[in-house]
Amino acid sequence: MFDHRKYRSATYFDRPNRQWPSQRILTAPQWCAVDLRDGNQALIEPMTVSQKQMMWKLLIEMGFKHIEIGFPSASQPDFEFTRWLIEKDQIPEDVTIQALVQARDELIERTYEALEGADRAIVHVYNSTSPVQREKVFGLDKQGIIDIAIKGAAKVQSEAKKYPNTQWTFQYSPESFSSTETEFAIEVCNAVINVWQPTPQNKAIINLPATIECAGPNVFADQVETFCEGVTSRDSLIISVHTHNDRGCAVAAAELAVMAGADRVEGTLMGNGERTGNMDIITMAMNLYSQGIDPKVDLSDAARITRTVEACTQISTHPRHPWMGELVYTAFSGSHQDAIKKCLAQQSEEDLWDVAYLPIDPKDLGRDYQSVIRVNSQSGKGGVAYIMEQEHGIALPRWMQIALSQAVQNYSERHSTEVNSDQILSIFKQNFMHHAGQYEMSGYHLDRENQHESIQANLTDGNNVIAIHGHGDGALEAFCDGLYKALGVQIDVQHYDQSSVELGTQAKAIAFIQVKIQQKTFVGVSQDGDILSATMNAILIALNQHFSENSKVA
Ligand code: KIV
Ligand code: ZN
Repeated sequence: MFDHRKYRSATYFDRPNRQWPSQRILTAPQWCAVDLRDGNQALIEPMTVSQKQMMWKLLIEMGFKHIEIGFPSASQPDFEFTRWLIEKDQIPEDVTIQALVQARDELIERTYEALEGADRAIVHVYNSTSPVQREKVFGLDKQGIIDIAIKGAAKVQSEAKKYPNTQWTFQYSPESFSSTETEFAIEVCNAVINVWQPTPQNKAIINLPATIECAGPNVFADQVETFCEGVTSRDSLIISVHTHNDRGCAVAAAELAVMAGADRVEGTLMGNGERTGNMDIITMAMNLYSQGIDPKVDLSDAARITRTVEACTQISTHPRHPWMGELVYTAFSGSHQDAIKKCLAQQSEEDLWDVAYLPIDPKDLGRDYQSVIRVNSQSGKGGVAYIMEQEHGIALPRWMQIALSQAVQNYSERHSTEVNSDQILSIFKQNFMHHAGQYEMSGYHLDRENQHESIQANLTDGNNVIAIHGHGDGALEAFCDGLYKALGVQIDVQHYDQSSVELGTQAKAIAFIQVKIQQKTFVGVSQDGDILSATMNAILIALNQHFSENSKVA
């Protein structure tokens, strides 16, 4: 039964002097990628050796310095992968691997066996501390939980002494921290810190997980700030956070936690992880990047990142995934397209990025502008004009943009589909460049005398040649005059524009014309090596449309 009365609200957290809302994030936290452990544990099919190697390579190339490589005491493939990293000398000098282990003696011993020979390593020990875990899972009181933590910490320390050639860092997580009474979490961690006796030169990591995200990110920030205030030896600790995404706020919680004093953030690429996932490092890093902060990870080859994550996790990327999805730099709406087009035209390399609807330059992530503007029935003239210019080299006058976008919209509505750039060009040609009727130009001669033009042209209608003689102040007027005299059709030119278009190495003139004939509007477009021929052909196209009246079907 769908009944909200089954649930209680998260404990109200009273912290009237909270400082974190006034803090700003000015540098990236220390990242720790847990894709190969937390991410891997959450997969329907855990990664194979080659997928793990692929993920490892990606994480190294992206610049991660702390990488949790697995749970070697609990998983033989994780053990073997750890051995492969060490024995095959895969760990760069500035990278530290991290292995997770429960606070149990035999598992801690096995973890050290897995890590033997590493130059540096973080041993990450944890036990659960929340009331539900204490009471329902372990059947222990608070002291029982503290005892597990102390015993685990002591074992981690004593085992480390057996491997003096490795530079060890110890990490402790009070698992389910965010569901634990903060005072109790402080008590447990202080007991662990008391065992390890870290110093500012040799810090321990205390990692605060929102194992289940059960309250808003502001509550998590309050918990982290309270923790940082109450924990002993703060200057000898690296405070890390590890948020999950049950309420969809894992990134927000990590960001607010950094404002509240956390130095380090654990997460995965694209947020893969248990249930709704871990904190997405890419999203948080890109959030920083878009604020002008060095994210300290390289995200420039977004396609490679998403491809690799997909190949390793077998989970496809949502097209609207923040920063990385296929559609996140695409505008379908006409007003958005217009705004983007105008801003892009004014954006110079030297200026700070300032483009409506595009929070960052898609090129930074290896995207091009081609996919920025896509056209469907919601799109307006801006998008169509942008594509005609960017992809087909044809700059449309404004009135022509309106005419074409109407034709494109009709097409899109009729076919219930997005319209790609080739289809837009073909709609353009069919509607405005096609000779749908009988008249064609077979030759002309133009004379100019005292600003006055006279034209003699021959048209064919398939069977006969029709001679045209006309006069006017310009060639266009003279041609319309001739058509009127020969065919009895009054042509009023409403718009006339010309531009050039590069077709391969050849430049061609293109003429756009809108005319009124017997109260109806017709548009003709023609291109030719000679602008006058292009103009007269454009008029003939419009005239033919008048005669056939049915050429507006795309
Ligand atoms: O989510 C969690 O609590 C964890 C811990 C083991 C750090 O993954
Ligand atoms: Zn986790």
